[in-house]
Amino acid sequence: MIARERPPKGGASPRRASAGSRPRVPDPAVGLINRQPGFKIVPMLIPPVKLPFSEEDIERLGGKFKDVLRSGHIAMGPRCAAFETEFAAWLGVDHAVGTGSGTQALELICRARDFAGASVCVPAATFMATAFAPLAAGARIVLVDCDPDTLQMDPADLERKIRPDTRAVVLVHLGGFVSRDWERIRSLAADAGAMLLEDAAHAHGAEAGGVMAGTMGDAAAFSFFATKVLPTGEGGMAVTGDEELAGRMLSIRQHGQSRPGSNVHESFGLNFRPSEMHALLGLDVLERSSRILESRRRAAAVYDRLLEGSPFTAVKPPPDQSPSYYKYIVFLPDGVPRKEFKDRLMSLHRYGLAGEVYSLPLSRQPFWAGNPEFLAHPLEDLPGADRGCSRHVCLPIWPGLDPEDQAKLVDAMSDVAGKLKSASR
Ligand SMILES: Cc1ncc(COP(=O)(O)O)c(C=O)c1O
Repeated sequence: MIARERPPKGGASPRRASAGSRPRVPDPAVGLINRQPGFKIVPMLIPPVKLPFSEEDIERLGGKFKDVLRSGHIAMGPRCAAFETEFAAWLGVDHAVGTGSGTQALELICRARDFAGASVCVPAATFMATAFAPLAAGARIVLVDCDPDTLQMDPADLERKIRPDTRAVVLVHLGGFVSRDWERIRSLAADAGAMLLEDAAHAHGAEAGGVMAGTMGDAAAFSFFATKVLPTGEGGMAVTGDEELAGRMLSIRQHGQSRPGSNVHESFGLNFRPSEMHALLGLDVLERSSRILESRRRAAAVYDRLLEGSPFTAVKPPPDQSPSYYKYIVFLPDGVPRKEFKDRLMSLHRYGLAGEVYSLPLSRQPFWAGNPEFLAHPLEDLPGADRGCSRHVCLPIWPGLDPEDQAKLVDAMSDVAGKLKSASR
């Protein structure tokens, strides 16, 4: 998250810290710094992301890191095993396989189910990793349109596009929200003989109708990337109730060895392993997950109240749902263009809004133009995803966000939207 100054275009050399001086460190009270056009350092009033580690947590973890180093066991040791066991118990699944990232967890599932030559249906409003992982395992992708008001996969478009060779439908819990159509999507996948693969990168602890995200389908992938709800810097977890699938994942994670370290390779595999240091962080955030989630949900409830009667429309969960609120997603009023809105919010009020989910749907990614053979369904306009992706912003949300700061941000947003609206008249 920390931006470095980049030289302005035109070849000027980077500014160096003078001898003996320290590199400039952002003032944590002001907030994180943001990458603005030209990569200038711009302090923001509310950091877009704040890690759930208090000074006390950092002190405690410092001691535990020393223990790991002193143990001499820094890869695939007792902490990796404990993190897998604890995560599986927390979620209520039989098997959890730790990986180096969420992308690796997705790819591991796809490789273990051998999707080579098959097609996989992926919603267009997601991160490119949702498509790249099955693609890396040899599948071709079918891009499915989304509901413009929720950014979730449109089941009617899925029904039209699902194919006889479809081996998986990926249900992405975007922003930590579960699709209100998840059971219909699961039935469509089952009717086609395809697995339901949950991309739960955003959805630690999200629930719908009492069912945890990550336990709705045949297998799920979580990410512990630095910005995520339970962050460990890098890391992932593939979970499943299927013992055979879990066994294949363990082997592929370890170069195709059935017994780790045996140097006997029975099948194809790679290295998808996590590290002890990341697992140590994982155990720590998992233990504090209820407080982390409660705090995010409290911050979301504050935004819900503040936005009532405003020109902005937040994505709201159905009554039976508790999202993880990885993101708090807000649609801008018609006639308020996102770029101008964000630019003005920063220049007039010093509020920066971080990443959307996502600003460009997968169908608009330039990758496909040069690689059309990776698509099982020809590229076409996906109007729902286009509309949803282009109209939303994400408000800062993290544990401990101050409600007064949230109120000031929402006031600033209303001011900017009002100005842009009257300028467009
Ligand atoms: C929806 C989604 N899926 C998968 C991933 C990949 O996770 P990772 O960054 O841990 O590889 C991300 C990461 O941002 C994501 O947002």
